Amino acid sequence: MLTSIKENKLTTKGQELGMMYFRVAIILFGAQLLMGLIAAFQFLFPSLLFELFDFSVARMVHINALVVWMLYAMIGSTYIMLTEETGHEGVALGLGKLGFWVLTVAVTVVVLVYIFVQVGAGNETTLWLINEGREYLEAPRWADIGIVVVVLIFYFNVFATYMKGEKTGIMTVMVANLMALAGLYLAGMIYTDNISMDQFWWWWVIHLWVEATWEVFVGTLAAFALIRLIGAKREVVEMWLWIEVLMLFGSGILGMGHHYFWIGTPEYWWEIGALFSALEPVPLIAMFVHVLYDWGKEQGAHEAKGEPKSVITNGPAMSWLVLNAFGNFLGAGIWGFFHTLPQVNIYTHGTQFTAAHGHLSFFGAYATILIGMMYYGIQKAYGVERLKATFKSKMGMFLVTFGVMGMTIALTIAGYEQVLVERGEMGATWNAFFTAQNLPWYIQAQLWRAIMGVVTFVGFIYLVWDLLTIGKEAQGAEA
Ligand code: HEM
Ligand code: HEM
Ligand SMILES: [Fe+2]
Repeated sequence: MLTSIKENKLTTKGQELGMMYFRVAIILFGAQLLMGLIAAFQFLFPSLLFELFDFSVARMVHINALVVWMLYAMIGSTYIMLTEETGHEGVALGLGKLGFWVLTVAVTVVVLVYIFVQVGAGNETTLWLINEGREYLEAPRWADIGIVVVVLIFYFNVFATYMKGEKTGIMTVMVANLMALAGLYLAGMIYTDNISMDQFWWWWVIHLWVEATWEVFVGTLAAFALIRLIGAKREVVEMWLWIEVLMLFGSGILGMGHHYFWIGTPEYWWEIGALFSALEPVPLIAMFVHVLYDWGKEQGAHEAKGEPKSVITNGPAMSWLVLNAFGNFLGAGIWGFFHTLPQVNIYTHGTQFTAAHGHLSFFGAYATILIGMMYYGIQKAYGVERLKATFKSKMGMFLVTFGVMGMTIALTIAGYEQVLVERGEMGATWNAFFTAQNLPWYIQAQLWRAIMGVVTFVGFIYLVWDLLTIGKEAQGAEA
């Protein structure tokens, strides 16, 4: 992947830019995992790195790096598919390249500041220069403004290319959805010193990203990838895409009520949140059925014509795409539904159960398909007809997935124990929290999470190793 940009003349400008975004994304993904490991071991050894690199800092960098690498990979995927979908080489991509460098320098500075200036009072100056203090979106205000400018450049690239090129259904959804996705970031910049209002707006970004605009975004990626990888029929995938857009926005927007149960918003949110968020898994199931249905249908069609069944042009990308269908359904649909009714959430709110859902959903719905797009990018960058999974691809896929699933199960057990002991039995007092944290069930679950975290990390090393070598190997095999 590193050499792919220089070595190959076949890539279009958009693909070149996409690969640049992917490289930074994978580095940030690695940083995210390392921070997660530190935080996981701090659960087991609370004095580990105390006052040198506190849990609060490790956790903060872990989840901010998560959001940033995913945004990088999303921008990368868009650039990768831009020319293929529109049939146009891309408008003002030189400016896009400049944007990439500005963003990357800003992200580096922000992370260094997080690491070197860890604690201190929060005031107007720190808000601008150090940390905004909003979970997942902690970038200081100066960086926020920089991000907005870079995103505007990116959006201009996509929009102008769309206007000049072919307007497919996939691109129309993408262009409209990206505007909503980028616009929502502004809601996270509203400043108020009222904590309820602050949380109210903050959820507009977090929830309306992951449960509406990001879901639609990966819907467009899946539609595009299915056409390219297994030759799915455009009319079929696009029809499903429109249905999903309708359903996701329908349930996702009011589903936000499930974050308004306990922050001081009016009580009518209980009913709204309960009803609409409970409907949210429906489109996720539809998407799941959609991918598998298409797959079976295409295979069946080939069989009927007496053609060879396997028409996958990119094995690892397709496997990650299938993992995405399962992961989205399980992590967001099932683990989300578990705790979405207020009657249940009163016991589970803020326990390790939430963390279990957070891990499986972000991984299942987003990490998987974005990694798949990286493999697709590599195939294009090296100009190979067919990219077959190697031993390293399989080890990466298996260990990362097994590790995240293992962490999720461990955290679910820890959360279950918290619900029973801390919430049910002891009434959610301060004392109850510490009692529950010190019981063997909880400690053992945290130990298993750390072990599974290491498994995930080993898988990640295989993944990176594969990304760095698979393109060249495939090129060599085809030559
Ligand atoms: C891919 C989609 C999704 C992602 C990435 C995601 C991620 C997350 C994360 C990270 C949190 C914790 C936020 C925090 O730090 O406070 C959270 C909370 C929550 N999610 Fe999701 N989620 C997704 C979809 C869903 C769906 C479809 C449902 C419901 C059916 C759901 C229900 C909830 C609920 C109820 C909470 C609040 C938990 C609490 O009270 O502690 N999520 N989600
Ligand atoms: C090496 C593997 C990993 C380890 C050891 C790890 C560990 C941790 C730890 C210790 C926390 C803090 C939990 C708390 O505050 O109680 C955390 C939070 C979080 N991690 Fe990870 N993590 C890993 C990988 C991942 C991956 C692959 C993803 C998603 C793609 C992810 C997403 C999250 C999210 C969304 C949160 C916030 C959850 C919440 O507050 O509800 N992590 N992680
Ligand atoms: Fe939500």
